[in-house]
Amino acid sequence: MSKSRPVRPPRYRPRLLTLRDGRQVTLRAITEADGAEIVQAFGRLSPAARYSRFMQHKKSLDLAVLERGLRPVPGQDFVFVATVPADDGIDIVGAARYLRAGAGSGALPGEPAGERCEFAITLVDDWCGSGLAPQLMMCLMRRARRDGYRTMEGLVMADNQPMLKLARRLGFEVVPMADDQTLVRVVRALAPRSRRAAQAVSRRRPAP
Ligand SMILES: CC(C)(COP(=O)(O)OP(=O)(O)OC[C@H]1O[C@@H](n2cnc3c(N)ncnc32)[C@H](O)[C@@H]1OP(=O)(O)O)[C@@H](O)C(=O)NCCC(=O)NCCS
Repeated sequence: MSKSRPVRPPRYRPRLLTLRDGRQVTLRAITEADGAEIVQAFGRLSPAARYSRFMQHKKSLDLAVLERGLRPVPGQDFVFVATVPADDGIDIVGAARYLRAGAGSGALPGEPAGERCEFAITLVDDWCGSGLAPQLMMCLMRRARRDGYRTMEGLVMADNQPMLKLARRLGFEVVPMADDQTLVRVVRALAPRSRRAAQAVSRRRPAP
C-alpha cells in the first residue's frame, strides 16, 4: 500500500476585516471542514449570481468541484472564505479563489509556465456592495503574488457589470474574446516577485 504524503495546510493567519458599511467578517483560508457551509452559501446565491459565476444555470454544486475547492494544493491554488458568526457556528458570505492557469490559456509569448493564475470570486447577495469584494480581491492578488504568480486573469461574462467595474477599479485590463462575444478576459500583472516567490515558482516547474 502506498503511503500518502501529509497535506500541508495553507499558511494564512485569519484576520478580521471591517467593511465600509461597518460590518465585520473573518477572512481565512478554506478548510476541509467548510463543505457544509459552502453548500449552504451556494443555496443562498441568487440564480443570477450562480449564472454569473458558473456561466450556466446550476441548481446544485458539483461534488467533484466542491471536493477540489476544499483541498487547494499549496502554492498552486488558494481559496479565501469570508465568514460571519451564525446560529450553527458560521456562515460563509464570500469566497475568492486563484487557480494555476492551464497551458495555453492566454499566455503571452515567452511567458514561463506556471506564472499565470485565474481567479474566481463570489459573494452572497446580501454582502454585495459592502466593500467585501475589493478587499477579497486585493488579498487574493497579494497571496498569488507571494506564491510566485506574475499575472492574474479571469473569465467574465461580458454583461457582468459589477465584476467588470470591480476589475477595472483594481487595475485589470478587459480583453475581448475573439471567438465568444458573451465573454471577456480580465488580466492584470501582479507586482514584481521577491526572490523567495521566484524560488517557489521554480520549485513548481518540472525538471527539464
Ligand atoms: C462580482 C461580485 C463579486 C462583485 O461584488 P460587489 O460587492 O457587487 O462589488 P462592488 O460593490 O465592489 O462593485 C461593484 C460595482 O458595480 C456596480 N454595479 C452593481 N450592479 C450593477 C449593474 N447591474 N450595472 C452596472 N453597475 C453595477 C456597483 O454599484 C459597484 O459600483 P460602485 O462602487 O461605483 O457603486 C459580486 O457581484 C458577485 O459575487 N457576483 C456573482 C459571482 C460573479 O459574478 N463572479 C465573477 C466571476 S468570477
